[in-house]
Amino acid sequence: MTKIIAFLNGKGGVGKTTAAVNVATAIARKGYSVAVVDTDPQQSISNWYEESKCQFDLTEAASEKEVYQVRKALKSYDYVIIDGAAAISAISAAAVMVSDLVLIPVTPSPLDFAACSAILAVLEARQDLQPVVARFFITRKVQKARMLSVLKASIADTGVPALRTGMAQRQSYVRVMLDGSTVFDTDDGAAKGEIEVLTNEILELLV
Ligand SMILES: Nc1ncnc2c1ncn2[C@@H]1O[C@H](COP(=O)(O)OP(=O)(O)OP(=O)(O)O)[C@@H](O)[C@H]1O
Ligand SMILES: [Mg+2]
Repeated sequence: MTKIIAFLNGKGGVGKTTAAVNVATAIARKGYSVAVVDTDPQQSISNWYEESKCQFDLTEAASEKEVYQVRKALKSYDYVIIDGAAAISAISAAAVMVSDLVLIPVTPSPLDFAACSAILAVLEARQDLQPVVARFFITRKVQKARMLSVLKASIADTGVPALRTGMAQRQSYVRVMLDGSTVFDTDDGAAKGEIEVLTNEILELLV
């Protein structure tokens, strides 16, 4: 059975796409077939993607209907990763409905956190029908203990758990998004290790 993972947060710039392509690559490196679905109207992954370099296939879903069709259309893949857009729309609601796991990247910025209430409302609506596994994970982590503890308290208030692993603020993530590569093409061992651990934690939630 195909497992579908969605990276969703209506806040722009929190690292959905960065996480999606690096985690997709880490899953593909384990020998699984992976497709990434770009739901961003600006098609940021499509701009980044170079088929010859990339270890996963890329498709687009430009409408709610196309997202609902993802499970059927991509049933030959082991894993499908949906990259959410920078707004909670009917497309994101459809992504919540078709996914086995919803991951909500959040940054330590308190203003960013408020923006995830929209995706939480969509998740809550689905919990009454057919529960979905959902987790926050912290991206663009900086060593500011106070900001992190505020963020962790805000997350705890929502009742949605957080992954143990997050992604630090690293220059290598910025660089790879500019040149169509992933951290696995760099010599940044810390970034590669972080993505491996994050990916293992994600896959454990799907067994
Ligand atoms: N862990 C990180 N460390 C450093 N920079 C990061 C990190 N994650 C993301 N960025 C940078 O932040 C910017 C936004 O990241 P990204 O495009 O992944 O966010 P997004 O949530 O997909 O945004 P959008 O909602 O607009 O699609 C990019 O320039 C990216 O390189
Ligand atoms: Mg994006």
